Amino acid sequence: MLTLNWKNATDVAIGPEHGVTKADLSGISRTMGKALRKVIAQTTGGKLGYANLPTHKTYPNAVKRLADKFRPATTDLVVLGIGGSALGNIALQAALNPATYNLLPDAKRGGPRLFVLDNVDPAMVGDVLDFIGPRLATTCVNVISKSGETAETASQFMIFRQALKEKLGASFASRIVATTDAKQGTLHDIAKADGYATLEVPGDVGGRFSVLSPVGLFSAAMCGIDIDQLLAGAAAMQKRTEHPKWRENPAAVLAAIKHLAAVKGKIMHVMMPYSNRLYLLADWYRQLWAESLGKQHDRKGKEVFAGPTPIKALGTTDQHSQVQLYREGPNDKLTVFLEVAKQARELAVPDAFGEVPGLAYLRNADLGTLLNAEKTATEYAMACSKRPSVTIRFDEITPHSVGEFIYLYEFTTSLAGELLNINAYDQPAVELGKKATFALMGRHGYEETAKEITPFAQIDEKYVV
Ligand code: PA5
Repeated sequence: MLTLNWKNATDVAIGPEHGVTKADLSGISRTMGKALRKVIAQTTGGKLGYANLPTHKTYPNAVKRLADKFRPATTDLVVLGIGGSALGNIALQAALNPATYNLLPDAKRGGPRLFVLDNVDPAMVGDVLDFIGPRLATTCVNVISKSGETAETASQFMIFRQALKEKLGASFASRIVATTDAKQGTLHDIAKADGYATLEVPGDVGGRFSVLSPVGLFSAAMCGIDIDQLLAGAAAMQKRTEHPKWRENPAAVLAAIKHLAAVKGKIMHVMMPYSNRLYLLADWYRQLWAESLGKQHDRKGKEVFAGPTPIKALGTTDQHSQVQLYREGPNDKLTVFLEVAKQARELAVPDAFGEVPGLAYLRNADLGTLLNAEKTATEYAMACSKRPSVTIRFDEITPHSVGEFIYLYEFTTSLAGELLNINAYDQPAVELGKKATFALMGRHGYEETAKEITPFAQIDEKYVV
């Protein structure tokens, strides 16, 4: 079970100027109670699509059926998607399979090698294409796009579809799984015309909340991750987040601490896992927090420019890179540490250098014990500088605990949106960049946008050195 320890974000640990006080908690109590009742009513009433995913009746079986069909004849799985259609897949794979997964021999992997291409960098896409080229006939391409028109995913897909066609001829479609809207959209139409296997992106779930839908589940199931346990973990956390007393509800406490910290000027929200496996969950969190909470207007249309900035850091690596700033720079950060009680494996330092007194403490020490000691040391050092922190503790990293974490953060994001009185489920500011890309690439209908871009795109020598 995940636990949340928030003492080091309070005045008890770091004093009343920077820490959350009893008065702060009392002050937010009514607002938080109201926000919690509202979000619980939405999740239990089926109004927030992501809340239906942990116990969904059809998605897990549809995913398992398709994964069982593809896995035996698949050496490589290529996921094409971006943003909410990729970050969850990457995070699950990093958290629940070894870092060397793709390098393991076939018999030691739980499924095919996995490549999630979430960019259009030609070097990266080309390198992967070259690498899997000889095995294209046993490659499964999972293209994920709710709209089907996202430039990055569409262009990647056109490249891989062409490569499959050249290699396999008429049977190319049998190597493609399209995850998209069940009823409409460009990818939906292409999938139907070409005859791909399909999985559904739920219409009522935004990309960044979709990891527990077929969007994230298919690659996980293909790579041997127990998706039933992942969903069971999410369902267990769902129960905890529906606790009506906010002080006993981990999502409400986390949302309250984050909100109150921001009010005290801690507008940078760092997530710092002391675990390489959890590091890319911090990437998933960055999108969830940024796109959901970064809003110009509140629900009444008032300009608020809301949203704490999510930052990721890795313990211990960033102790030697960022912590100097976190302790002595502006006191504008709240750090959420992710700690793992029982690491995936034990690894002891050998009983060497007996004659070197400065290294004696490391002899026979377990690396996991060292890692966690460094986390506590950083937490203490930050508290000494009056820097607030919270710790989310995983008993161990399992599909269940990762499912708990994902749901905890989704629900916390909903509550954070309520506290800011903003719409946490849209992303209007992403659209202009998409339109401008269409214009710059010469898409029909975007000629006016292209004209507007000209003064910004033209190089004026006066400003070039
Ligand atoms: O969270 C979101 O909504 C975005 O990150 C989308 O997932 C991303 O833009 C990809 O969109 P689509 O799935 O339509 O290709």
